[in-house]
Amino acid sequence: MPGRLFPVGGPVSEKDIVDREDFIVSVQTRLTDGQSIMLAGPRRIGKTSIAYEVLRRLKEQRYYTASVDFFRLSDIREFAVSLINACLENRTGIRKTLDVLKDRARTIAGMAKLTVKFQDLEFDLNFLQDNPDENLLLDYALELTETLASHDNKNMVVLFDEFQDASRVANQSEIYKKMRSHFQNHQNVSYMFLGSKEGVMNTLFGNHKEAFYRYATVLPIPSIPEDSWLGYITQKFAGQHIKADDRVVREILRQTGGHPQDTMLVCSEIYYAILEAGEQTVTPEYVQLGHSRALLTLTQVYNEILDEIGQRTRAREVLKRLATGKTIYIQSDNSNETKRALDYLATKAIIEKGGRGSYKFIEPMFQEYILRED
Ligand SMILES: Nc1ncnc2c1ncn2[C@@H]1O[C@H](COP(=O)(O)OP(=O)(O)OP(=O)(O)O)[C@@H](O)[C@H]1O
Ligand SMILES: [Mg+2]
Repeated sequence: MPGRLFPVGGPVSEKDIVDREDFIVSVQTRLTDGQSIMLAGPRRIGKTSIAYEVLRRLKEQRYYTASVDFFRLSDIREFAVSLINACLENRTGIRKTLDVLKDRARTIAGMAKLTVKFQDLEFDLNFLQDNPDENLLLDYALELTETLASHDNKNMVVLFDEFQDASRVANQSEIYKKMRSHFQNHQNVSYMFLGSKEGVMNTLFGNHKEAFYRYATVLPIPSIPEDSWLGYITQKFAGQHIKADDRVVREILRQTGGHPQDTMLVCSEIYYAILEAGEQTVTPEYVQLGHSRALLTLTQVYNEILDEIGQRTRAREVLKRLATGKTIYIQSDNSNETKRALDYLATKAIIEKGGRGSYKFIEPMFQEYILRED
């Protein structure tokens, strides 16, 4: 949300993107060099923020850009329309060009003007009907990126966010084949694929049976170093005439593990608590208060995750054992089941492997939440 001191929820703009400069430059350089890129990572670690910032910078370099978020889409027609709109916006400056076209096409004069404007893009006026043939529409959309870029003598970068959801949107996994068959001939367009289901994304781009096998360079998203957070948080508070010394900020980071959204959220809650009290120093007490309030706002998110993993044999039990620091493998267990539960939790990006076969929570706050649950 713009305007907040510590923005939480949704992509953040350049000034609040802590420590991604090198990574952003690297992604941008590769894209301008014609590579396509895949970024996968757990929820709320800042994937979309990185991608939007890259697109913003490319636009400044006079690139054409487009982005489509599969999370928001429910069928093929919506996907095609969303991609066409995102493409045409580069020419028209209008967000939903297709809607405007539909309106204008109601008059003969409007129709004539339109035909002239988009003639070179082989735009089929049947697409403006209420029920256009969705496969024709999709083929058109998937080719429009290249058609548009080459006609306008531009380079273009297209972002697909939550790419692993494309098969849900299309209701079939053939969609990937179709997309690849178009994209592989594109000369002027690079693609950026983002996904929050790492396991699925790694299969889509890493399994030789998959259509996107080796299509994109896979870049791991680095974590944000503690010192970068330290500088950012201290300065943000200082800007509001609030003192936060290294010790308290390191305590915040210890509790959040530096997880991007959790850290922002705790800082935000501390800030409001201090404002309410009319204080000017972040003390350990405010850190605790901020942390508890942040946990409260995360309840819904965490409950949803717990519900989901509750469907899986032993997953919840194993997670609980991990949270409490108990041994995971106990004698009476079926160790295969335990292993499968651990793998499952890892593909869900809830836990990750630490050293020596141990596992740790990706979000320490989630661990805390589970501990407080009963
Ligand atoms: N580099 C960063 N520095 C500081 N905060 C960040 C950073 N990246 C992300 N955040 C925080 O995380 C939140 C989510 O960011 P963003 O939407 O980019 O993540 P995401 O990985 O795309 O999430 P999702 O899995 O929900 O799609 C932001 O609102 C912000 O609070
Ligand atoms: Mg995102």
